[in-house]
Amino acid sequence: MRYFITALRTLRNYLPSDKSVDKGNLVEVGKSADFKEGRMRVVDFNGDSVILTRYQGKVCAVINKCAHLAVALDSGTLKDGVITCPLHNSKFDVCTGENLDWVTGVAGVRVPKWTSELIALGQEPRGIRSYTVVEENDAVFIQA
Ligand code: FES
Repeated sequence: MRYFITALRTLRNYLPSDKSVDKGNLVEVGKSADFKEGRMRVVDFNGDSVILTRYQGKVCAVINKCAHLAVALDSGTLKDGVITCPLHNSKFDVCTGENLDWVTGVAGVRVPKWTSELIALGQEPRGIRSYTVVEENDAVFIQA
């Protein structure tokens, strides 16, 4: 009987999985091959839109929502581990969510500091939520 159970568990690892697999507090969000270096991939995680990307070999995840006005960041740009908001150019570290630059212009065009301060609407710089990511057995999980 023990061998039968072991065989079933082994077989389960080779079956295709289209749905998220809950492993305790880890939720599978895709296979390792789905996450390419420098490319954004958006998944739904517990009702939030989350951006995942591979940066320097490690898969990272941050919420897909700018800290300024909640614009979706996946329509912005990703370069060297930094996501730039498509609306007012704020920059965020794709692994930590740390804010690296805050409201510097409009749609990629830089504006004078006094103008960007008006656009910021009095909001102070802040980062975005990042998630703990685990990659094992050719699958990627986010910690719930
Ligand atoms: S909405 Fe992203 S910087 Fe303003």
